[in-house]
Amino acid sequence: MTDVQLNLRFMAACAIAREAGRLIRLRFDARDEVLKLEFKGPQNYLTETDAEVEQLIAKRIADAFPDDDFFGEEGGGSFGRDVWIVDPIDGTADFARGVPHFCVSIAFVRDGRAEVGVLYDPMLDELFAAQRGAGATLNGKPIKVSTIDDIRQSVVELGWSSRIQFEGYAAVHARLHELGAGVKRRGSGALGIAYVAMGRHDGYCELHINSWDAAAAVLIVQEAGGWTNDFLTPNCLQNGNRVIACTPALREVLEQVMNV
Ligand code: IPD
Repeated sequence: MTDVQLNLRFMAACAIAREAGRLIRLRFDARDEVLKLEFKGPQNYLTETDAEVEQLIAKRIADAFPDDDFFGEEGGGSFGRDVWIVDPIDGTADFARGVPHFCVSIAFVRDGRAEVGVLYDPMLDELFAAQRGAGATLNGKPIKVSTIDDIRQSVVELGWSSRIQFEGYAAVHARLHELGAGVKRRGSGALGIAYVAMGRHDGYCELHINSWDAAAAVLIVQEAGGWTNDFLTPNCLQNGNRVIACTPALREVLEQVMNV
């Protein structure tokens, strides 16, 4: 694939993420104040907007790049040499409950390697974007990870989902706390990882997260000068993986902490 073809995909991902974000915001602003919650399973929310937004993104991608494969959190898809991996709303639980902390996540992956990663938070109008080898940006301006190298001065988000045993999560949380990290948990892994790319967080850890939640954000952190584990393995595409994303100086301590 030529640089021009990759650039086209990068620009398309940015435009599509913004358009999808506008639709999410429209639905969020028009929501009924009386919550009507639906679930796919325990702590696993179902909203009509996820499917609606994914269909919009899938159509835009199919129109522009008909030979590329597509895999979305809601509708699934197929994995070929060139595949788009999409989470229409990362932070669905917050979206469903009226908390304004969620984003669209779009990654373009070639031969198992993320080449483009874009996240858009429609509530803060923040577009995080990265193309491999070209750096990372927030609304077009270059971003870098923080210079924090002491865990006692760090802010680390520790993600959780019902896919993992609570004991493992509790052990990692306790260890981070003992070491002096400021530990938090919010509801969007994608944003939590992207925040490492520009110093709102110094690290993000989760014992299991899906590829559609984290593939784009991991590339953004790498391109912002951060360190991540080898997240996007062949198995991860369909089954997910653990994730660590942090400033280079916190790598050793966070790898040890996550070794439960
Ligand atoms: C979830 C969020 C959450 C993370 C979970 C994800 P969803 O994705 O990113 O923060 O901890 O692992 O499954 O369900 O909101 O798309």
